[in-house]
Amino acid sequence: MASTTPTSNDPNAVYSLGHNASESQRLQRQADELFDQSAALVDRTALGPGGSCIDVGCGPRGILDLLAQRVGPEGRVVGVDADPDHVAMATQMAADRNLDWVSVVQDDARHTSLPSSSFDVVHGRTILITVPEPLELVLEMARLAKPGGWVIGLEPDPEPSICAHLDNPDVIVMPGVNFLVSGRKPEGG
Ligand SMILES: C[S@@+](CC[C@H](N)C(=O)[O-])C[C@H]1O[C@@H](n2cnc3c(N)ncnc32)[C@H](O)[C@@H]1O
Repeated sequence: MASTTPTSNDPNAVYSLGHNASESQRLQRQADELFDQSAALVDRTALGPGGSCIDVGCGPRGILDLLAQRVGPEGRVVGVDADPDHVAMATQMAADRNLDWVSVVQDDARHTSLPSSSFDVVHGRTILITVPEPLELVLEMARLAKPGGWVIGLEPDPEPSICAHLDNPDVIVMPGVNFLVSGRKPEGG
């Protein structure tokens, strides 16, 4: 019997916000709007000059520029996105800023072809809410982190039960409530 679960091997088929120019522009604005929160998240880690890091589902910019600042030219920054247009935009952004230590590859972030234990920091922002099985992506992020490395992310609240709470007219809605999450891969892991 054919499966009806949305676990397509085509990552673009499961990105609920779609593939179009206005979504790419929204992501460019989001990169500015979330810059400070993401900087605070990266501050939780020991990432510094010469470090290695990856932004999974980086979109047209993600935090590639922020990570590039932190690790400097001696470091290594990789961006991964399934959308070839986003890969091209992120690559152009890095070239425009002369960030030679940033590379962007097209791949499925849930099952990358990158070697295990490669990065000091593995980051994803507003991507766990876009994949059908978030755990799949978290496990891949942990695989990519070096032992003692960090897996970090920023995600909006995906909890459906909050909807009933928000329907209460006495509740004041603060748009843009995000969660910063971080965890460390055990040294022996
Ligand atoms: C909501 S956007 C977030 C972009 C970026 N992280 C940011 O915060 O600006 C989600 C991105 O993840 C990418 N994406 C979705 N599923 C993916 C997958 N399985 N593998 C790689 N990229 C994926 C989409 O193409 C899109 O660029």
